[in-house]
Amino acid sequence: MDFEAEIQKLKKQLNAVILAHYYQESEIQDVADFVGDSLALAQQAEKTTADVIVFCGVHFMAETAKILNPTKLVLLPDLAAGCSLSDRCPPGPFKVFKDQHPGHFVVTYVNSSAAVKALSDVIVTSSNAVKIVSKIPKDKPIIFAPDQHLGRYVMKQTGRDMVLWPGSCIVHETFSEKAIVQLKVEHPDALVIAHPECEAPVLAHADYIGSTKQLLEFTQTSERQKFIVVTEAGILHQMELKSPHKKFIPAPATDGCACNVCPFMRLNTLEKLYLCMRDKKPALELDPALREAATQPLKLMMEWSR
Ligand code: 13P
Ligand code: SF4
Repeated sequence: MDFEAEIQKLKKQLNAVILAHYYQESEIQDVADFVGDSLALAQQAEKTTADVIVFCGVHFMAETAKILNPTKLVLLPDLAAGCSLSDRCPPGPFKVFKDQHPGHFVVTYVNSSAAVKALSDVIVTSSNAVKIVSKIPKDKPIIFAPDQHLGRYVMKQTGRDMVLWPGSCIVHETFSEKAIVQLKVEHPDALVIAHPECEAPVLAHADYIGSTKQLLEFTQTSERQKFIVVTEAGILHQMELKSPHKKFIPAPATDGCACNVCPFMRLNTLEKLYLCMRDKKPALELDPALREAATQPLKLMMEWSR
């Protein structure tokens, strides 16, 4: 079956918009109406006039789209597409952690469940975390969850002390510092660009640090012709499309395994995308009270990132 042609037909029939994250496989990115980072995808979801949002990313991203668009049908090709950051920060233990730090302003990374968002004061993504934390009054103590590495990076950038939830991304925590140093020696003309979910010793080798969208834009505007890319390898597709004459080297994980590919993101396939549009399921459902509670911190993020 020509999945691509069928998906295009269904898109018209359903008046659907297909949103895809940069970590989706290339063929999914190629059929999407919009490819972006988590903030840009949330902004697209907020302003779309389509009746159906087909979200090619992971569960928390589709859930964010549903929180912002409660009346729309939000489809996700595979509901099991989770995220290690979100999965390792359950709401029960997070509530206990929060209660242990009374009076703290709770800043939560968008890579979290709606239940954890509902316990937060403001949400951030990797592209606006520094900006948003800088807006919090200086005398207010802060909890940052669930990514400790992004949290440490934000602390360094803002000079703010924060209490960190000890979470991490299974993809970004496995990049090998040794392999990156070796690549730098082999390619002295390359710049190292990294996502802030990486550990501090890896970030110390980066010439530029940013969200997936910021990394992509950096490769487009930089005069440099070669980049060692320290994030999930799916982003290379857009980098190569936007700058076909430049060279992109994916950073390897420790032990040379294929761990620089997110196993959750890659649960989505073109066939599953077609099937979810054909069957109008799986659809993202959210308890209305939970949705209501998660809306406020998310809306505050949308406001503060403008
Ligand atoms: P972005 O905010 O760059 O899209 O990152 C999302 C993510 O899941 C990184 O692992
Ligand atoms: Fe979550 Fe990491 Fe996958 Fe991003 S790359 S979705 S943070 S597990």
